[in-house]
Amino acid sequence: MIGIIGAMASEVDGLKEIMKNKTIDIISGVEFCCGSIGGKEIVVAQAGVGKVNAAVTAQTMILKYNTKAIINIGVAGGINPTLNIGDIVIADRTVEHDMDTTAVGDAPGFITGIDRVYMDCDKEISELMYQVSKDMGIHTIYGVVASGDIFVSEDSVRNKIADVFNGDAAEMEGGAIGHVCTMNNVPFAVLRAMSDCANNDSVVDFPAFAQKAAKTSIEIITEFLKRYKG
Ligand code: ADE
Repeated sequence: MIGIIGAMASEVDGLKEIMKNKTIDIISGVEFCCGSIGGKEIVVAQAGVGKVNAAVTAQTMILKYNTKAIINIGVAGGINPTLNIGDIVIADRTVEHDMDTTAVGDAPGFITGIDRVYMDCDKEISELMYQVSKDMGIHTIYGVVASGDIFVSEDSVRNKIADVFNGDAAEMEGGAIGHVCTMNNVPFAVLRAMSDCANNDSVVDFPAFAQKAAKTSIEIITEFLKRYKG
């Protein structure tokens, strides 16, 4: 079983609509929809926005559904200057940009316990998602997906994420899912379509482009599931 997590309804509803043989469980107020696409058994959940919601959902998937991999899909704010709205970032690593124990001598983003700043994504899944996105003619890059419990809507915050973490896209869940998957030794990947550029225009761009960007990420994951052999 592969787990697929989105934060908002627009990021997962399109998948739930095309799933076959659906069953639903509600755990901690989160709906887990099991079924299949392209012959692959999947569980899809709308976690809600932010790192804690994402973490609870990822941990539940691992314990209850024994997911062999988790993929986080949805929208993000583009930070890498080559990115425009509608483009795709496939994470090669995730980071939690709001994790900060620098006052006691740690590196920015350092997570005590798993003792690292960056979480590495699964290569096989990421490469196939990258290929699918490219084949659809979309400008697609690998990069650092930086997560925090903040909607990035100021150039100053965007610049900090770029300078301190080499962040290519900002969102609010991928790093938490990476964190949970790393703790549990479960492979994970992050696919994000740009709804805005994580800057002073984001409050205008996000509502205008999030729906369409979310749809693009659903189209890519759907085709991925058809091609994936794992
Ligand atoms: N998701 C989409 N755009 C975002 C932004 N600018 N900041 C955080 N999460 C986002």
